[in-house]
Amino acid sequence: MTAITTKPYNVLIDLIEVYWDDPVAFAEDILQFNPDEWQRNVLNDLANNPFVSVRSGQGVGKTGLEAMSVLWYLCCRPNPKIVCTAPTRQQLNDVLWAEIAKWMESSMVKNFLKWTKTKVYMMGNEERWFATARTATKPENMQGFHEEYMLFVVDEASGVADNIMEAILCTLSGAENKLLMCGNPTRTSGVFYDSHHKDRQDYKTHKVSSWDSPRASKENIERLIRKYGKDSDAVRIRVYGEFPKSNLMYSFLWKCRRPLQRRRLSFVAEPCI
Ligand SMILES: Nc1ncnc2c1ncn2[C@@H]1O[C@H](COP(=O)(O)OP(=O)(O)OP(=O)(O)O)[C@@H](O)[C@H]1O
Ligand SMILES: [Mg+2]
Repeated sequence: MTAITTKPYNVLIDLIEVYWDDPVAFAEDILQFNPDEWQRNVLNDLANNPFVSVRSGQGVGKTGLEAMSVLWYLCCRPNPKIVCTAPTRQQLNDVLWAEIAKWMESSMVKNFLKWTKTKVYMMGNEERWFATARTATKPENMQGFHEEYMLFVVDEASGVADNIMEAILCTLSGAENKLLMCGNPTRTSGVFYDSHHKDRQDYKTHKVSSWDSPRASKENIERLIRKYGKDSDAVRIRVYGEFPKSNLMYSFLWKCRRPLQRRRLSFVAEPCI
């Protein structure tokens, strides 16, 4: 693989023209990432629609998909602003931001993007052409962005508070602005829940079961079913990508997180506020 090194802006114009509405080809050609079938469908929906929402079991490849979306939008729109967020700093920095670094590092565009702990930007255009990581802890973190080409990526979207989501929805006012929400469906209220129910007409929605993902260990799924029961909320949320039956919010003990194959599940049930 040859990294693109010369005349970055001419190369960028080519990238923009060729891959503007083809993030799947961009992922394959430029990032050496072969999307799974469901990831292809989501990427194509993101290219052609403003709002996309994905609920799934664990370990199916949501964060990988988000990293693809960020890098595609960053390279295939002029002066884009991309805001990535998640409920906790750990989820944002250690997981999503690290995933972006991983795929960027082996890509053909690594020589004209600069990755830092809080920003990935186009070299020479740091102020206007970037993706940034903002923890979903206060609405102000999401406000003040205005650009023709803007993408918000929300990881673990079920856990993001409604006032934060409200700030995001109000910021996304331009015709070319986009929103990608992904998560395990942990609670039966909020913007993420509504995107799969009463606001469904405004979103392209996807549901992915861990059974259907080549990345999730089938032995572990069977073990979870034996332990919690097929129709338990734990299995609904973590395997099938179904919202829980009871109106509880499950806050996962993030510090225990490991890949699905090796992880032991622990939940703390809290009343939904
Ligand atoms: N199409 C793909 N090709 C190769 N690797 C992939 C692909 N999709 C995802 N991965 C990798 O699989 C691993 C698990 O995926 P990822 O972390 O994206 O899953 P997830 O759905 O976000 O998990 P969780 O539910 O725990 O948040 C990661 O290392 C990611 O880089
Ligand atoms: Mg993830």
